[in-house]
Order: sequence, then C-alpha cells, then structure tokens
Amino acid sequence: MRFDILTLFPRMFSSPFQESILGKAIEKGHLDIRIINIRDFATDRHQVVDDTPYGGGQGMVMKVEPIARVIDSIKSQNPSGWTVYLTPQGKPFNQEIARALSSRPHVVLLCGRYEGVDERVRELFADEEISIGDYVLTGGELAAMVVIDAVSRLLPGVLGSDRSAEEDSFFHSLLEYPQYTRPSNFRENCVPEILLSGNHSAISLWRRREALKRTWVRRPDLLAKANLTDEDKKLLEEIVQENATADCEIQIEDKEALKK
Ligand code: 6GU
Repeated sequence: MRFDILTLFPRMFSSPFQESILGKAIEKGHLDIRIINIRDFATDRHQVVDDTPYGGGQGMVMKVEPIARVIDSIKSQNPSGWTVYLTPQGKPFNQEIARALSSRPHVVLLCGRYEGVDERVRELFADEEISIGDYVLTGGELAAMVVIDAVSRLLPGVLGSDRSAEEDSFFHSLLEYPQYTRPSNFRENCVPEILLSGNHSAISLWRRREALKRTWVRRPDLLAKANLTDEDKKLLEEIVQENATADCEIQIEDKEALKK
C-alpha cells in the first residue's frame, strides 16, 4: 500500500516509520511511504504556501494553488489515489475507518497547519476528512502518523504472524485482557494461578472473562457495539452480579444498558 504525505514539515516524518514493525513493513515492500513538501510546489520566488484570511482575522490559511499542484501531479500519475484531509473537523477516526482505508491501494494524506486550508481545497480535492480525537493539535502531521500506523498493521504480512490479527478479531471491540510475563512473583504480587496451569481452554475462558470485565468497567459504550456470544452474555451476567452493590448507581445504569 502506498501513502503520500503532503506536509509543510517533512522533517517530522524522518524517523517514525523507520522503527519496528512499520520499518520492517517498508523494507519488505508491504508499505511505500512518500513525504512530499508542499512548499516545493509553490511557484513564486518566495515559495509562499500560506496567506492571511479574506475577511480578516487571526492567523494564516494554507493556499489552494500549491496543494492543487501536488495533488494534480499525484493524480496524473496515479488516478486511484484517495485523498484524506486531516482536520479536527473530520470524522472521528476509528478501527472501522482504518479497515476501510487498508483496502485502498493508495492514500494521500494532507496535513493542515495554521488556521487550516482554503475551503476550496476541501471542496475540490478531499475525498474524506478525518480527525483523530476531540482535542486540537498544532497540525495534521501527528494525526497522519496515527492513521498510517493503525492502517498499516492491518495489511497482509505486516504483523509478524497472522496470529495477532486473529487474536484481534476474536477480541474485536473489547479491551485487552491483562498480560503477564516472568517473574511469577514480583514483590508479593503474583501472576493469576490459572495462567501457570497449562490448561489452555481454562486460560481462554479466563481471558475472555477478563476482557469482558475490563470493557464493562472502563468502556461500557464498547459493549453495546460488541458482537457478544451467548457465552459472553452469561459471563457478563456473572461479572455484573459479582460487582453489583445496591448503592452503586453507575453500575446499575450499566446493568440496564446490558439488558437492551
Ligand atoms: Cl487531524 N488535526 C489537528 N490539527 N488537530 C487534531 C486532529 C487533526 N485530530 C484531532 N485533533
């Protein structure tokens, strides 16, 4: 899969993709990430890429022409490119959007800076607008890194084994169960006995239960969307029973939500 990143700050990308899993994915040819400096497409002597807003007001707006030139040049060689504008005004990014992007051969990520881009950039060139959360960043660069990371790990061959992806789909939309490694006793804090038992089916059940419990406690909103089996629902009933106390209104509310 190919990503083109359009940015005014190309140096921000000099190392994040060289490390670890993404670095290997690039080496192995699963990923092709190109960093394009929008300033290189400004044609005037001072390579101006931003200007003051029409109508007045604070800050600077990224100009339409240099961005149009980059995208035209990419599209002329590769018409299938899908252009994503990274902006706090975009659709909130999630696993579903990551999955959809991972099926595209070529994604162009446009990183906004300053007060954003000229509105005509979004109208003419953005196929989709994405935000990575309800907070304001100084630009779309970090968001582009987040999107590329989340999408790339879904590509075939990128994660070392396909085991990780399988595991993910089994625990799809639940939080992870707790993990432990040696030593089994650290300052009198012991690893749960069952994980040392060698009983794989009991371990699987325990993990499923812990994933459900953790999700119920921390992110009950995720449970509503989860694909729960009858067995899961039974486990949840147990978890709710164990934790239910008459004076805990939040938990009672959650119990009501679970029944729906
Ligand atoms: Cl994509 N850009 C900026 N500047 N801020 C953000 C964001 C994007 N997503 C969340 N906050």
